[in-house]
Amino acid sequence: MNYKIAVLPGDGIGPEVVREAVSVLETVAGMHGFSVTTEEGLVGGASIDAYGKPLTDSVLRLAKESNAVLLGAMGGPKWDGLDYPVRPERALLGLRQELGLFANLRPVKLFSALAAASTLKREVVEGTDLLVVRELTGGIYFGQPKGVSRLPDGTERGVNTEVYTTPEIERIAVVAFEAARKRRKKLTSVDKANVLEATELWRKVVSRVHREKGYEDIHLEHMLVDNCAMQLIRDPKQFDVLVTTNMFGDILSDEAAMLTGSIGMLPSASLGGKVGMYEPVHGSAPDIAGEDKANPLATILTVALMLRHSLDQSQAAERIENAVEAVLNAGYRTIDIQEKDSRLVGCREMGRFVRERMAQL
Ligand code: IPM
Ligand code: MG
Repeated sequence: MNYKIAVLPGDGIGPEVVREAVSVLETVAGMHGFSVTTEEGLVGGASIDAYGKPLTDSVLRLAKESNAVLLGAMGGPKWDGLDYPVRPERALLGLRQELGLFANLRPVKLFSALAAASTLKREVVEGTDLLVVRELTGGIYFGQPKGVSRLPDGTERGVNTEVYTTPEIERIAVVAFEAARKRRKKLTSVDKANVLEATELWRKVVSRVHREKGYEDIHLEHMLVDNCAMQLIRDPKQFDVLVTTNMFGDILSDEAAMLTGSIGMLPSASLGGKVGMYEPVHGSAPDIAGEDKANPLATILTVALMLRHSLDQSQAAERIENAVEAVLNAGYRTIDIQEKDSRLVGCREMGRFVRERMAQL
């Protein structure tokens, strides 16, 4: 079996972490009897510099013709002043939309070796294992009308629109219920139904899918987003699967990331179309780009998600996850998860350790 992977490293630390992750992918392929052909494309700021826009047709075509897309990170201060439609982040939004990736899975699992790296107490975070299912192609990120206009009195008015339709809510609810069924069978739907009509509809539709589509075996609860933000810090172990809107999911997944010690640990999978896209949750971290300080583990764990969800190679995925755990247990840490008595390593070295461990498992 040979798989074609579109590799889009992007900006900042993107290229460094993607390099390690691709190398892990090639190594694990050899161990499990399949091969990968990778093709690289420029996206985000790198594409702006080369072609004047963040996402070109040829990169979009490359993504569509692949079995899966591996993405690094996008953006940086260099491109901050640009208009919204040509900012690096637009490439990410464009890819999500063009590929129809409405379901973003962000598993938040604490490796017990990292319990002390979290800013929260060990007894609060230890055992955390939850999944954020974030709606990814709707809501306020894409809703119309949007934009900034000038008013007659010379001031300006900025608008974004939170909008959800029944089918959009139904399909993400189904993804979340199915995910919960494979886990501990509990789903928390997060909204702001006490204030926002669009999410009142969200709550209603999720409840109806629960009742009418045969998900009675799943325990469903609804939670307001402000309470959820608090509960994630107070008692994260109460959660199994969370399903929420695009913007709430963006915010809550960064918060949840800190339970694991560092956002540098969190992988994500974007699904729903023919081709899945896989990206670490973290950003481009321009402050440490090119210094070999970045944590490649989020992107390496992202490759494991790709193997499981797009390439049907779950044993290879497990080998990667076990190798990451073993490297952490052995005390190796990048700077973001560094502790007393741990051995500080760089991005490259961390990648090499994972590959070496994989051979021993
Ligand atoms: C994420 C990021 C993106 C988002 C940005 C970079 C557009 O924060 O994937 O969580 O808001 O979706
Ligand atoms: Mg985000």
